[in-house]
Amino acid sequence: MCGIFCYLNYLTPQTKKYILDTLLQGLKRMEYRGYDSAGLAVDRCCGDKSTVIVRERGKVASLEKLVNVSQELNMDEVCNIHCGIAHTRWATHGEPAPRNSHPHRSDANNTFVVIHNGIVTNYMAIKNFLVEKGYTDFESETDTEVVAKLALYIYNENPSTTFQELVETLIGMIDGAFAFLFKSNKFPDQVIATRRGSPLIVAIKADVEMLTEYFPILYSSDRTSSSGVNRNEIPSPSGHSGGDLPNGTTNINGRISPGTAMTASAGSGEFKLGGKTPVEYFFASDASAVIEHTNKVIYLEDNDIAHVDNAGGLHIMRTKKKHANEKDFRSVNTLQLKLEEIMKGSYNYFMEKEIFEQPESVVNTMRGRLNFETGQVVLGGLVEHLDDIKRSRRLIMIACGTSFHSALATRQILEELSQLPVMVELASDFMDRHTPIFRDDVCFFISQSGETADSLLALRYCKKRGALCVGVTNTVGSSISRETSCGVHINAGPEIGVASTKAYTSQIISLLMFALLISADRISMMERRKAIISELEKLPKKIEKVLELAEDLKKLAEQYQKENSFLIMGRGYNYATCLEGALKIKEITYMHSEGIMTGELKHGPLALVEATMPIIMIAVRDSVYVNCQNALQQVISRGGKPILICEEGDEEIVRLATDKDGNCKLAQVIRVPKTVDCLAGVLTVIPLQLISLYVAVRNGLNVDCPRNLAKSVTVE
Ligand code: F6R
Repeated sequence: MCGIFCYLNYLTPQTKKYILDTLLQGLKRMEYRGYDSAGLAVDRCCGDKSTVIVRERGKVASLEKLVNVSQELNMDEVCNIHCGIAHTRWATHGEPAPRNSHPHRSDANNTFVVIHNGIVTNYMAIKNFLVEKGYTDFESETDTEVVAKLALYIYNENPSTTFQELVETLIGMIDGAFAFLFKSNKFPDQVIATRRGSPLIVAIKADVEMLTEYFPILYSSDRTSSSGVNRNEIPSPSGHSGGDLPNGTTNINGRISPGTAMTASAGSGEFKLGGKTPVEYFFASDASAVIEHTNKVIYLEDNDIAHVDNAGGLHIMRTKKKHANEKDFRSVNTLQLKLEEIMKGSYNYFMEKEIFEQPESVVNTMRGRLNFETGQVVLGGLVEHLDDIKRSRRLIMIACGTSFHSALATRQILEELSQLPVMVELASDFMDRHTPIFRDDVCFFISQSGETADSLLALRYCKKRGALCVGVTNTVGSSISRETSCGVHINAGPEIGVASTKAYTSQIISLLMFALLISADRISMMERRKAIISELEKLPKKIEKVLELAEDLKKLAEQYQKENSFLIMGRGYNYATCLEGALKIKEITYMHSEGIMTGELKHGPLALVEATMPIIMIAVRDSVYVNCQNALQQVISRGGKPILICEEGDEEIVRLATDKDGNCKLAQVIRVPKTVDCLAGVLTVIPLQLISLYVAVRNGLNVDCPRNLAKSVTVE
């Protein structure tokens, strides 16, 4: 998914080389999000504020090469004030190519340049409008380019318009989802950032002590726009008026005049940025890109417009208050993330590191929440809503991909312990069906990133219908964590590899802790709860034991690396493991892979079974063990030679797979420690994570950034 980065140094002298390195490094920190091309825009030199754009298809390293040989840039020049913007693009409109890469420009003079994450849904209408007005020099197939040209159009209509007025008018004309950064040689040394539906943060590095933790919002009034441009000029095919702007004119009033440093009024005290005080600003799609510079971060909300003016002041604006109790400030948050936490350490791949971190990450998920001695569970984020949850009509778990699988993996235990009906929904399908939702429903939104567009849409849909919305995310400050009424932070630590691994196991633990919490006062559940809690305590050690299988699994991967297909079979609690294992294999190795519920074997999938078909079967000694044994026999009797994942010490199942002459029909046996049924999936999924990793590595594939995929899917 696209990554946005900006570095603005105000009264902080930096060489052009430093500025470019900072921009490139910011992009590298977001590489894990997935992208296919990259670009940046900086000033030509201190005396000439015209903009130079460099763009390249492929990795940031390719862009870096191009930057280093650019004849237009003087690397040694020192800039006292400078604004540079940079972008990694994940193609949606137009193939990956330099012409489609960002920044996009308004004209041959690069008067306005823009970078964008998201989709402009009415871009064709805007393009037609601009062409009619004589703006015909389109260079790309993207939806973003119209935005740069629209900025120039608004400016040309009224050259006395301010940068803020211009952007506010512009976003009022746009439908869709976006995070934008604008840079212009008409407004040198400034940047404007705005978002609607795509994440964006502002990070601040200043030597002055910040005496307040709040930044006030400035609201524009309803007076006639001084930009002179009217949204109604653009036909709206969707009938949706962009953002919270009224159809018609828009303006900014009450903003502080350029040259005035920001004064916070909503908090306790005040602080000043800019003016005579040096300050550096970073704008980024996520915190991993800024953490090495500063830990002071503001999360922008939908329709916020953040402007750094030419006096180094930061202003956050909105058009109008939607309702009286809307927050009229943005908090300055202190990030706890450490840079080492997002680095690979001694591992070759982030995915590898994250798989091997699981003994630790599951502990972090439980830390301070689960008392193994007393059995008490405290989920601070749910305390105030627990009674409502217990009284609810049903629990609905909504998610995508791996997060959906974690809901599936815990549905049975949630039903058992809560005694409530539990529905598990793929967010996209949930929305397609316009699923009925009631005020006494409790809807859980499970999302590693907290930014997944389909899950976010479903959240807004459920919220509108009055359901209590609970977030289960790994990202503090993410859209889902902010827009839900309450929630659980899974605390797995940053997950950089595109393929989700440790977040999956931590999601399972979080949902399981919720099931324990909701059943805490049920006498009939005491023994069951005790058994689960005791196994949760032993879980990290058991995960370590599974990870000791790594060398054996490497050899197994070598044997299977040239296969085209993998079937993964199981049932009960391990059905989710099958789906999750198959997803890992397909996304990382590009092999076809399918998770099959063995209860369905006879209804079709058995036709696939033959001697050459790679099959993995999962059977642990739980309530469906006998059914799993039957399935194994069916597969073997059709000539299948499955790899079996079973429990340590289970000789019975191996005997079953051995004919009377002592020939074992299993390709390999992978043994995991025994645990309680509802936790088995945490152990059985790890061999599958490792197999997919090792097959992909052997095939020379990019494990951390598989083709066509992005870490954070912020478009539908
Ligand atoms: C697969 C994977 C994806 C995500 C899905 C939802 O390894 O990572 O299937 O699980 O895109 O993402 P989140 O959890 O961020 O909502």
